[in-house]
Amino acid sequence: MSGYLSTSKKKITAPLFFEMKRNGEKISWLTAYDYTTASIIDAGGVDAILVGDSASNVMDGNMTTLPITVDEMIYHARSVARAVNHALVICDMPFGSYQVSEEDGLRNAIRIMKESGVDAVKIEGGAEIAPMIKRMVDAGIPVSGHLGLTPQSVHKFGGYGLRAKDEDEAEKLIADAKALDDAGCFCIVLEKVPAALAQKVTESVSCATIGIGAGNCCDGQVLVYADMLGMNPSFKPKFLRKYADMYNVMTSAIAQYVSDVKSTDFPNESESY
Ligand code: KIV
Repeated sequence: MSGYLSTSKKKITAPLFFEMKRNGEKISWLTAYDYTTASIIDAGGVDAILVGDSASNVMDGNMTTLPITVDEMIYHARSVARAVNHALVICDMPFGSYQVSEEDGLRNAIRIMKESGVDAVKIEGGAEIAPMIKRMVDAGIPVSGHLGLTPQSVHKFGGYGLRAKDEDEAEKLIADAKALDDAGCFCIVLEKVPAALAQKVTESVSCATIGIGAGNCCDGQVLVYADMLGMNPSFKPKFLRKYADMYNVMTSAIAQYVSDVKSTDFPNESESY
């Protein structure tokens, strides 16, 4: 990240999200977990980079997001924050970092902000965590909510299926979104919920909604970068659009390198000292 006197490209801030929503300008997010990828994604012009706890899956190969720790999130978030000049950088609060008590959650949010240099945190949950979110916001920390399919609760849900299909859960989700909005969230991620419900939520809150598998009426969209770049050919949920076939691009390049090494084509004279 550039220094405090830098006059490089304008940095996106959390309050700008309210303005973008009011102006009808859609907000683009992608995830990133390391310096090199984050600098490429920032250069592509996204509005926000989420250091998601999906790092547990994408970086560490776990089945769920549950194992990743605060220390590991800080490592990933610091690497991303160092790379980014333009996008807002948001770090997920991992499982176990805010469920024990409000004090614990506030302490961990402050730690993440201090030690990683990100601009905001994201936290999964509804009205039950609104008082804690208010304390974070009062402490000066921009907070994004996350409703619908909240992957840290995968064992409670029994899987990664669509949420809020029935009326009761849909009504609760709207009430949760209003509670997060009132608590001061600058945006709310809506994951894997019916598009009509996401539209209703978007119209009911002053903060921006960011959808993933939540249709086209949210104020913005988020995808995991490795998914949208096609790095994992076997992952193809309905909501995902693949913008590249990086699995084939990368394996082909690597196969060519292997072949060049074996044939002694690499390195050639101009690549030698
Ligand atoms: O961890 C993550 O990548 C997320 C997004 C899928 C919203 O929370």
